[in-house]
Amino acid sequence: MTRTIDEITRSCRFRRMRKFNWSRRLIRENHLHVNDLIWTFFLCEGKGKCEPISSMPGIKRFSIDIALEKTLHAAELGIPAVAPFPREPLEIKTENGSYITNSENLINRFLREIKKIAPDIGVITDAALDPYTTHGHDGILHKGVILNDESVEMVVQGALAQAKAGSDIIAPSDMMDGRIGAIRDNLDANGFQDVAILSYAAKFSSAFYGPYRNAIGTAPLLEGNKNTYYLDPANSNEALREAKEDILEGADMLIVKPGILYLDIIYRLKETLSVPILSYQVSGEYAMLQAAAANGWIDGLQSTMETLIAFKRAGCDGILTYFAFEIAQELQKVT
Ligand code: PBG
Repeated sequence: MTRTIDEITRSCRFRRMRKFNWSRRLIRENHLHVNDLIWTFFLCEGKGKCEPISSMPGIKRFSIDIALEKTLHAAELGIPAVAPFPREPLEIKTENGSYITNSENLINRFLREIKKIAPDIGVITDAALDPYTTHGHDGILHKGVILNDESVEMVVQGALAQAKAGSDIIAPSDMMDGRIGAIRDNLDANGFQDVAILSYAAKFSSAFYGPYRNAIGTAPLLEGNKNTYYLDPANSNEALREAKEDILEGADMLIVKPGILYLDIIYRLKETLSVPILSYQVSGEYAMLQAAAANGWIDGLQSTMETLIAFKRAGCDGILTYFAFEIAQELQKVT
């Protein structure tokens, strides 16, 4: 005797709970909250500057005065932390990127100012040499080779300068070996035990950083690629090994970068390790979403929301995103 569809599905009609908005909300497993958002933005020299970035429509580079106002606004919206990235002028760039250690660089000036006026928003600073080198690499380049230990020494000094200027979280994104332990030891030796380290433990050698390199001006400078220090996009075990090592060396939190293509890495790290895992929705992801939305091919806001909830579903504790402002404003509207 054949059963009717109703007889077959009587006990498992999933659509019962999908029927109403209230019931969908009731059984929702993951939620995006303003506390999940870290606003990434770009700094430039000058006063009153808001420079458009051609590779990232909707994003502008801000001079420090404007960035301070925007960060205050971010704090008002409840965004827990911001992450500034500098477009430094060509004149300061050197072979070894030593301007990272200068107390007057854009990041350090921004840090001192923001700490005076907004002590309640966290500031995460990228400790990497690429904005400061003439060749656009995150390390010191010698005869075509990125020198590991020499680069670590410079990043360690850069991290110390950032801590002195008021950074709450040092985020080394250069992927040199041994940098987490070296930064931790040096911060501790200088009385900065309370400054945290967010390690870019799983940073992949990705084409999706293109618009960022354009935004900070490293695109035309970059010699070759970063395959000898960033992770191979084909690898997952190696990301796990990197992450474990960075925790042993003293990282407080880890980051997976880029974001949406690497949800498996987020999931795996979260399942295996008991530290907060963040993801960085990078410039290429931003640009893709914006380009498709601008052409009317996708709904920009809904698609962006979907990417952000995907990070949460994968196990992320927070997301660095260029969309943080819009999303924080949007979250105020929804129940
Ligand atoms: C390098 C750095 C990168 C990004 C931020 N810092 C990658 C790179 O240029 O190789 C990328 C961020 C983005 O694409 O949004 N230290």
